[in-house]
Amino acid sequence: MTKELYRRELAQFKPYVQGKPIEAVRREYGLDRIEKLASNENQFGPSPKALDAIRAELPELIFYPETYPFDLMKELSQMLGIRQEQLVVGSGGEGLLWQVALTFINEGDEIVVADPTFDVYRIATSILGGKTVQVPMKGLGYDIDGMLGAVNEKTKLFFVCNPNNPTGHVASQAELDRIVRELPEDVVLFLDEAYYELAAVSPDYPKDNIALIGRRPNTLVLRSFSKTYGLAGVRFGYIITSPDIAQKLGMVGPSFKLNRLAIAAARGAIEDTEYRDWYAAENAKARQTLLDYYQTKGWVSFPSYSNFIWTDTGLDSQRFFEELQKRGVIIRPGYLWGERWKTWFRISTGTPEQMRFFIDKTEEVLAL
Ligand SMILES: Cc1ncc(COP(=O)(O)O)c(C=O)c1O
Repeated sequence: MTKELYRRELAQFKPYVQGKPIEAVRREYGLDRIEKLASNENQFGPSPKALDAIRAELPELIFYPETYPFDLMKELSQMLGIRQEQLVVGSGGEGLLWQVALTFINEGDEIVVADPTFDVYRIATSILGGKTVQVPMKGLGYDIDGMLGAVNEKTKLFFVCNPNNPTGHVASQAELDRIVRELPEDVVLFLDEAYYELAAVSPDYPKDNIALIGRRPNTLVLRSFSKTYGLAGVRFGYIITSPDIAQKLGMVGPSFKLNRLAIAAARGAIEDTEYRDWYAAENAKARQTLLDYYQTKGWVSFPSYSNFIWTDTGLDSQRFFEELQKRGVIIRPGYLWGERWKTWFRISTGTPEQMRFFIDKTEEVLAL
């Protein structure tokens, strides 16, 4: 008799596929210059204060980190104006999403998400035997009717990615108000604000969702230091929620969720409001450069509140991606999100030089 060694769900499991690393592209095409604009990383370098804090922490690396990083929790909760018991810190937004899935999902439970959206919601749910109900976008926005209509007695989590990855658009204040009014209290509302500080410079971005937690305790707000502070390689994110949920989230996953460098970097970054504001302004400029260029081409984009833009070129995205890659620009092609998006692509913002390089290389591809 043979015993099934693996989790049942692994047989159907579709893990996250990372884009090709720069080193692999360099080897394959023998290129001198490569700009990777595929993963919504901050192209402007890490927060200087975070870097200083990391350097200062290096001699301490022989010691385990604190399982409850007290100073960081205190400083972050002060910055956010919340109680420390409402805060959960973790290994990036992604690490926290796995903690959320482990905390809430039993076999057969459902989550409601938009399509397309950040794929980790589905991935972490599926390994636990949960089901993801995907509701396609309507026009250039969320289908709120469709998403609310997809909720049933099995629904545990309702995800609003604000701004949404890969589209970059947001649910408006009116749409969020409606969700809060109509979503049953026993469904957890998950607001993914991984790009919060970049969106918050737009006057119409709904920025006060933390206040919602007082009125609707089954609500989680996720934020990340990966984008705003250029710390994707360090892995730091946090969730703000009710003390009850925060306590449960803290129970699952490894005891040491943050390493010493992540704790130090986060404490440094909290101080670096100057860098945060500067990057948000540079990002908005880069986005405008791209949008101005797309306008000359007649290409349609979702309205972006983020550090990337999702655009329809009308061209086959796989070919567009491959031709750009040969020339040293790495983007994320829409076909990866299915048939409906096969002529779309996502590109991250970058420095003025990087945006120029992308535009020049795109012109070469269009002239083929
Ligand atoms: C919408 C969204 N949420 C969460 C994350 C996770 O970010 P991190 O794990 O780097 O904090 C990302 C990363 O790209 C994202 O786009």
